[in-house]
Amino acid sequence: MLAQTTPWYAHALQRTAAGPAEPLPVPARMEWTTRPGSGPGAEILGPDLGRKRVLELGCGPGHNAACLAALPQVLGSARAGETPTGARVTGVDLVGLQVRRARSHYGRLANLTFVAGHALHYLQASDQPFDAIYSVFGAVGLVAPELLLPGIAHHLKPGCPLVFSVPHPLRAGRSPSADDRPRRDSVILPDRRRLPLVRWDFNADRWEKHLNRAGLWLASAQEFHDAHQNRWPTTLLITARKL
Ligand SMILES: C[S@@+](CC[C@H](N)C(=O)[O-])C[C@H]1O[C@@H](n2cnc3c(N)ncnc32)[C@H](O)[C@@H]1O
Repeated sequence: MLAQTTPWYAHALQRTAAGPAEPLPVPARMEWTTRPGSGPGAEILGPDLGRKRVLELGCGPGHNAACLAALPQVLGSARAGETPTGARVTGVDLVGLQVRRARSHYGRLANLTFVAGHALHYLQASDQPFDAIYSVFGAVGLVAPELLLPGIAHHLKPGCPLVFSVPHPLRAGRSPSADDRPRRDSVILPDRRRLPLVRWDFNADRWEKHLNRAGLWLASAQEFHDAHQNRWPTTLLITARKL
C-alpha cells in the first residue's frame, strides 16, 4: 500500500511514462541545491572518497550516486591504466520504479548498488557501517528525525559526515516550524499537479537540536538561492558529523 499511496510513486510513474529509462552519461558534478551548477560538489563529503562506503537516502534516479561511484573519472584524477576507485555507493529509494530507473541509467557501474525500500527500514535491517551518508531533497526531512537521525548515526563511523539538503524553511516567504512536528506540504508532479505530503520543515537551530540528540554535531548550515527566486533562499544544506 505504501508504495501506491506515496506521492513519490505518482512522481516516478509520470517520469517513467514520459520516456524510456536509458543508460546515461555519469554527471560531471554532484548537485545539492535547486540551482544546478551552484554550491559545493562531492568534496563536501570528504577529501578522499576512493573506495569509501557511502549511502544515499532517497536517491531517486541515481544521478548523484553515480557521480560519486565514478568520482576519479569524473574529476579526471585516475591515472592512465589505473583501475577507477570511486566510492562504493548504495542508493536507497522508497519507490521501486525509481530504483528501476536508476539501474537503467547507471546499473553498469560496478561499485554502485540501488536498493528499493524505506530509508528507516533499510537502516534498521542493515549492520553495514558507512564513511558518509547523504540525502539530496531525499528521506531526511520526509521521515521523523527522532527515528531517522539515530538510525543514521548508528551506521556512521566516528567523525564521519551526514550531509543533507532540504527545501529551505523560508522558501517562498514561509516561516520555519515553531515546534518539532511535521507540516503539510506538497510535491509538484511533472504534469504540474500537486500532491500532499508531510515534511519536517526545521531551521538550522532545530536541526542542530535533533542532530545533537542523535549523537551528531552540526558542522555547517549553508543556504542557497536560485536564479528565479532571489528574494528567498530555496535550499538549506546541513553538514553534520558523528561524535
Ligand atoms: C525530490 S526526490 C530527490 C531524488 C534525488 N535525491 C535527486 O536529487 O534527484 C525525493 C526522493 O526521495 C524518495 N523518498 C521519499 N521518502 C523516502 C523514504 N522514506 N525512504 C527512501 N526514499 C524516500 C522518493 O521516492 C524520491 O525518489
